[in-house]
Parts: sequence; C-alpha cells; structure tokens
Amino acid sequence: MSRYFVLDGPDGCGKSSQAQALCTWLRESGHRVQHVREPGSTPVGEALRQLLLSPQTGDLQPVTEALLFSSARAELVAKVIAPARQRGEVVVGERGYLSTIVYQGLAGSALGLPVDWLFELSRRVHDGCLPTAIFLLDVSPELARQRRSARQQDRFEARPADYHARVRDGYLHAARLEPLARIVDASGSFREVQQTLRAAVTSLLAGAVP
Ligand SMILES: Nc1ncnc2c1ncn2[C@@H]1O[C@H](COP(=O)(O)OP(=O)(O)OP(=O)(O)O)[C@@H](O)[C@H]1O
Ligand SMILES: [Mg+2]
Repeated sequence: MSRYFVLDGPDGCGKSSQAQALCTWLRESGHRVQHVREPGSTPVGEALRQLLLSPQTGDLQPVTEALLFSSARAELVAKVIAPARQRGEVVVGERGYLSTIVYQGLAGSALGLPVDWLFELSRRVHDGCLPTAIFLLDVSPELARQRRSARQQDRFEARPADYHARVRDGYLHAARLEPLARIVDASGSFREVQQTLRAAVTSLLAGAVP
C-alpha cells in the first residue's frame, strides 16, 4: 500500500509547513513516513540545492537548470523514494517535476524549454516510480509574497513580481496538463488547507494501488 504524495506550488504557498503537519498526522495514524524535499534529501541533491538556490550562482541556462534539478530528482527517486515505497512507507515530497515544468518551461518567457520535452525528461527520471498525486497549493502571488516576507530570499524568490505572476499561471496551466495533479486552494487558513489535504490523502490511501 505504498503511496507518494507531492506538495508543489510557488515559493511561500505553504509546502514545507503543510508537509510537516501531514507527516506528523500520517505517523500518528500508524504509517511509516519518508519526508523529502526537492532539490535535496540525498548528499548530491543537497549539494545541487545549495548551488541552484544560491543568489551567488547567478543566471543559468534553462537547460542547465532543468538537468541539474532533474539530476537531484533522479538520485532522490532511485536512492530514497523507490526504496521507501518498496518498504511500504508513505512518501511526502516538497516539490517535484511540476516545478521543473513551471520554472524551466512555462514561467521562463522566451527562454522557456518545451513543456513536452520537460514532461518526457521527468518520466525518464522517475522510471516508473511516479507520484500517487501532486497537490498544487495555489495562492495568489501577493499572498505568497506576504507569507514568505519574513525570510531571506533565494535565487528564484528574489525575482520580480511579474515573474511570480508567470509562475502562478504556469502552475495552473501545468496542473491542467498533468493528470496526477490536483489544484488545492491554499489561500485559506493553515488548518483549512491541512484538512483538505488530509481528506484527499485519506481517500487515496484507501483506494486501489495504481
Ligand atoms: N494557510 C496558511 N495561512 C497562513 N500562513 C501560512 C499558511 N500556510 C503556510 N503559512 C505560513 O507561510 C509561510 C510560508 O510557508 P512555507 O514555508 O510552508 O511555504 P513553502 O511553500 O514551503 O515556501 P518555499 O517554497 O519558499 O519553501 C510560513 O511562515 C508558514 O507558516
Ligand atoms: Mg519550503
């Protein structure tokens, strides 16, 4: 009964805090849980995270970014997610390939990579170990900005408002292209969003193994 749930969405939408609460609730419900984040959660993945998010890295070609994020993901899937699923654990991930479709494809204006190619690359990286569901935590760019306002900004967060508007629109577009994606209104209170996620996860845990 192995499941892999991804929480994705713009910076500040609530992925980390909702994933943390979801993992706590799943553990209290008796599940063994693996909580991972992208890029990261492997030694190579964390090193790539440092490189990819540091403002000191400067501009990278979209194809460079796509391949580096995908490299981190390939390590994570092969070394952490697939083994955890084989052990029957529930995997909860912060971000996944929907991020790559958006940030290196749809939100990248004229430099964006073809979305079909990014989906193909992502399928290759996952090698059959696809998520059970991808929850897009949808919030307006303004609300996301307010929620992340207290923090130091990374290389992506520091971009201008029109970029964040393209990211939000890109996520909504990508979610409509991706059958595994479900759009969750994340503008409500933390508790409301968590209840929506728990309800969806409960029904997916009870359903047939895909
Ligand atoms: N529904 C909510 N209502 C109000 N505040 C929220 C809600 N969800 C999350 N927050 C708060 O918003 C801030 C950003 O949330 P969080 O760090 O979980 O976002 P994130 O999606 O993980 O961001 P990033 O992509 O930058 O890692 C946190 O301070 C969190 O407590
Ligand atoms: Mg986070």
